[in-house]
Amino acid sequence: MERLDVSYDKILHAYPNEEGSLIPLLQKMQATKRYISPEMVEAVADYLGITESQVYGVASFYSQFRFTEPGKHSISVCLGTACHVNGGETLLETFERDLNIKPGECTPDKKFDLNRVACIGCCALAPVVKVDNDVHSKVNVIKLKEIWTSYE
Ligand code: FES
Repeated sequence: MERLDVSYDKILHAYPNEEGSLIPLLQKMQATKRYISPEMVEAVADYLGITESQVYGVASFYSQFRFTEPGKHSISVCLGTACHVNGGETLLETFERDLNIKPGECTPDKKFDLNRVACIGCCALAPVVKVDNDVHSKVNVIKLKEIWTSYE
């Protein structure tokens, strides 16, 4: 087995080795690579004395955690109420078809990952699509292609 990254030790030992540290530890781990790798799950499980299944079991309740490597750019389609009623689902389906991936997946060239998100707080601009930190407002299917083709 590959040796665990020693930098994990520094993160791990910043928290008491008790189950209550699980969520903050996963947040810190994710902040280092934008996702939580299997090695990180193993390191956290070992440190807290719980199984990897328990780590995945708890973390899967929280949409903030990502267990697959993200693409260079992250596309998030808002499916909060205002965006949903203004066509958010159609936007998501169009992205799925154009990029040939499902939410939570990454394109084979690792350029984009696709995500569904709840309200991102700008409902007056619905439907909204976020790419990295850019919020695109009042998006329609025609604008969609212009959006994702504008990212290098
Ligand atoms: S529902 Fe999409 S921004 Fe609020």
